[in-house]
Amino acid sequence: MPALSKLYFKTAIIFLVIGVGIGIHMSISENRSVMGAHAHINLLGWVTMALFGTYFVFDPAKAQTRLARVQYGIYTVGVIVMMPSLYFMLNGNEALEPLVAVSSLVVFAGVALFAYLVFSGEGQAAQ
Ligand code: HEM
Repeated sequence: MPALSKLYFKTAIIFLVIGVGIGIHMSISENRSVMGAHAHINLLGWVTMALFGTYFVFDPAKAQTRLARVQYGIYTVGVIVMMPSLYFMLNGNEALEPLVAVSSLVVFAGVALFAYLVFSGEGQAAQ
């Protein structure tokens, strides 16, 4: 498995532990106000990162590129900033809304870069 895939899975599983922890806390407390943060930590953190990591298993040459590492960095920083700010915003701290907005654009940049990586090199012979 490429090092980048391992890194993606290590990062993803941390988000799953946090996301499931919030889910259990929501269930016990019967307070659903942070449901949006729970859903996004699990989906942007665990599911999407695990899919990114899986993609690079099937295209290890792309995993070696600098652009792929930059993509990991941008996406991960975006999710790391967005998740706590979304969580606390949904908990009532409305001042965090601009941080949620900016970090969600960083996440989008990471997604756009991944899209570029997927489509790049299409003209090359299959390996
Ligand atoms: C032990 C694990 C988990 C627990 C205890 C849990 C708990 C919950 C609870 C209590 C809600 C609110 C439901 C409602 O009030 O309608 C919820 C919503 C949600 N959860 Fe989880 N969850 C868990 C794992 C996951 C995972 C792994 C994912 C995704 C990969 C996920 C995705 C979602 C989504 C998308 C929603 C929003 C559903 C909606 O909008 O109706 N959850 N979860």
